Amino acid sequence: MTEMDYTKLGDTGLEVSRLCLGCMNFGSDTEWMMNDEEASVELIDRAIDLGINFLDTANVYSRGESERIVGKAIEEYDRDELVVATKVYGSMGDGPNSQGLSRKHILDQAEASLERLGTDYIDLYQIHRWDETTPVEETLDALDHLVETGKVRYLGASTMAAWQFTKALYESDVNDYRRFACMQPEYNLVDRHEEENVLPVCADQGIGVVPWSPLAGGFLTGKYDRDEDPDEGRAATDEHTRERFTDENWAVLDEVRTLADEKGASPAQVSLAWLLHKEVVDAPIIGPRTIDHLEENVGALDVTLSDDEVARLEAPKDPVWARAIANL
Ligand SMILES: NC(=O)c1ccc[n+]([C@@H]2O[C@H](COP(=O)([O-])OP(=O)(O)OC[C@H]3O[C@@H](n4cnc5c(N)ncnc54)[C@H](OP(=O)(O)O)[C@@H]3O)[C@@H](O)[C@H]2O)c1
Repeated sequence: MTEMDYTKLGDTGLEVSRLCLGCMNFGSDTEWMMNDEEASVELIDRAIDLGINFLDTANVYSRGESERIVGKAIEEYDRDELVVATKVYGSMGDGPNSQGLSRKHILDQAEASLERLGTDYIDLYQIHRWDETTPVEETLDALDHLVETGKVRYLGASTMAAWQFTKALYESDVNDYRRFACMQPEYNLVDRHEEENVLPVCADQGIGVVPWSPLAGGFLTGKYDRDEDPDEGRAATDEHTRERFTDENWAVLDEVRTLADEKGASPAQVSLAWLLHKEVVDAPIIGPRTIDHLEENVGALDVTLSDDEVARLEAPKDPVWARAIANL
């Protein structure tokens, strides 16, 4: 059995498993997600059994259902050893104050997340996006208050322009607020735009990096083929996964498949191993839908890549930054 590895999250003292379990799929009747609570709890159990101590959810995932399922699953475990991450920003209702990063919404949602998760603190509380309508000082002050009152241990952010993240770090420093310790960007072998955006900031500032969609929604598992219209898998119904069907991305996948054959590994394992070899990356957030996916993905920890192999995987595509690509 693969032995789990652990690492410090960025410059913090917090030990996280090198793979984080993404919980976005839980509790939703969207076709490509999981609407089976028992199977979701079993998946979390198996992940913990495999040594994963790091779980990522968000208030907005199925409007609280994912958090509730995570809360149910973790009840029986030693809370001190689990690192529970959630997020705030997305819309949780129809009213004008039910979204964003105002002090009011953050403090309300932190309480609501604690309730749904059945815990009295959140290990990593992340802003899901940048809020252009709220002064960042107000957001940072509210987050700082949550840390000071013991409801949150560490702060994180996700998916924004590098200038916005840099501004937030600067404002924390000059106002003596707790800094963001972690960034959650979209990052995988076919979505490398963050190499030209937020990743250099993270490397320079000692910020932990936990990439989302590390398998490009399943594209990098090799389950799809050129010129095919999939009727199964996430790409059958999820537009963002289908957007990965470009000539350049198929060329990346060709190289992933070739290398996987050479190494006796699967394309998913080679793709995850590539992320795990990036100095700036702490823990890719895997999104398995089944226990088989989970076990296969954990096997990526056993795959080593030489510098030449990393270069081969990267050769077909140059990273380009644009807000549109970054889904902002
Ligand atoms: N901060 C943000 O804005 C943001 C955005 C997105 C996600 N996230 C986080 O990142 C986590 C992971 O994102 P993701 O679900 O997009 O990750 P992903 O690993 O890129 O894609 C997951 C999907 O790929 C397929 N898959 C995964 N492992 C497989 C395997 N071994 N073999 C075959 N198919 C496999 C499954 O889809 P099918 O079987 O249906 O094809 C699965 O639902 C989420 O749970 C969430 O915590 C954050």
